Amino acid sequence: MSLFVLVSPDTDFAQRMAAAVDGGLPGTLRVLAGAGLPGQPEDLFGVLGAVPDVLVIGPGVALEPALRFATVMDIRFPGVTVLLAAEADAELALTAMRAGVRDVVSPGIDAEQLRVVLQRGAQAAESRGRSAANAAGQEGPGAHGANRGRVIGVFSPKGGVGKTTLATNIAVGLGRTAPLRVCVVDLDLQFGDIASGLDLSPEHTLTDAVTPAAARDSLVLKAFLTLHPGGFYALCAPRSPAEADAISPEQVSHLIGQLAEQFDVVVLDTAPGLGECTLAGLEACTDAVWVTGMDVPGVRGLRSSLDVLAHLGLVPESRHLVLNMADPKVGLSVKDIEVTLGVPVDVSVPRSRSVAYSTNRGVPVLQSPRRGDKATAALGQVVERLSPSDSSRAARRAHRRVVVA
Ligand SMILES: Nc1ncnc2c1ncn2[C@@H]1O[C@H](COP(=O)(O)OP(=O)(O)OP(=O)(O)O)[C@@H](O)[C@H]1O
Ligand SMILES: [Mg+2]
Repeated sequence: MSLFVLVSPDTDFAQRMAAAVDGGLPGTLRVLAGAGLPGQPEDLFGVLGAVPDVLVIGPGVALEPALRFATVMDIRFPGVTVLLAAEADAELALTAMRAGVRDVVSPGIDAEQLRVVLQRGAQAAESRGRSAANAAGQEGPGAHGANRGRVIGVFSPKGGVGKTTLATNIAVGLGRTAPLRVCVVDLDLQFGDIASGLDLSPEHTLTDAVTPAAARDSLVLKAFLTLHPGGFYALCAPRSPAEADAISPEQVSHLIGQLAEQFDVVVLDTAPGLGECTLAGLEACTDAVWVTGMDVPGVRGLRSSLDVLAHLGLVPESRHLVLNMADPKVGLSVKDIEVTLGVPVDVSVPRSRSVAYSTNRGVPVLQSPRRGDKATAALGQVVERLSPSDSSRAARRAHRRVVVA
């Protein structure tokens, strides 16, 4: 049973929403017929005596406070789906999505269409974890730290091995199952190419995201993220190496902490090597994806890096080793690599023209997958290993030998 809540003075809209819920949705509707929202989500929960699953901000409610309320709700109570009924052009729709609104519908929407949107909203609320939302509601905002999202970093000592390719595809893949709950961050501060790899023209970059205003207020930080059409957020690298130099590892650590409180998953793309900001990223990681090509210097470099990190106690518990641009004809076998590294290869991604083409188009292969392409399938396996479902975690424990074909 879901609790649907409408805040709107528009009685006609309320009637259509009542018809939508009565027309086959398992749940109840509460209507707050005023034109204003309470100051904080907790005030709304107090009036209702419950946490809603789906909150519809209806016609007649002023937009600016509505979007601010939606942002606070998204950050503090991500289990509640917020929908907006307003005449929206593309710009308003984007602003609303950035504020955490899941869907924007026309105020004239009919009951049947509204039922479909409400059903989707209720499903999203359910999958985001109703219990987590309730827990946050009962324990107050201080409890939010316990709900930190996962931080998945992609690392390699060498350049050009496919870190950005993996990071962008992981964001696309995980973003599909958790819309608007994933954020990819370009920690290759000097020469990052997440923006180009995702065909984005960001208005703001990491430089804005570490300013005191954003560091203090996660609502300000969220306004500096760029929404990708695939339903996830990106924080792109600074515009110049000089700007990048001004960012400290402490700022990076703080930023990742803020993002992990707002998103289910934060994906970090990194610069080659183990620079200070990369180490700050690694320290925050719940999962580290290590990438290597099939070349002796690359594999040896990774071995040295893993040794140093183990010595520093900096290897995250969950480790995934990806062999990229795998090729059976280069005189090095998976076994050789595993013996040198002392860890098993988890996924092997073959060299593929479609991957190189996708980088040049700015459309990760998982965004428009081509059936039968082995590299696409292997990237899908990486996403599956990182997906939160129990079955894939079990599959991860049962390691299967990788073969380069
Ligand atoms: N499996 C693959 N098959 C073919 N080309 C690939 C594959 N993986 C990556 N590439 C290509 O290799 C190039 C480098 O990839 P990518 O930018 O992801 O590497 P990187 O490790 O992020 O590099 P850098 O260290 O410079 O940031 C890109 O042009 C990409 O398309
Ligand atoms: Mg890169």
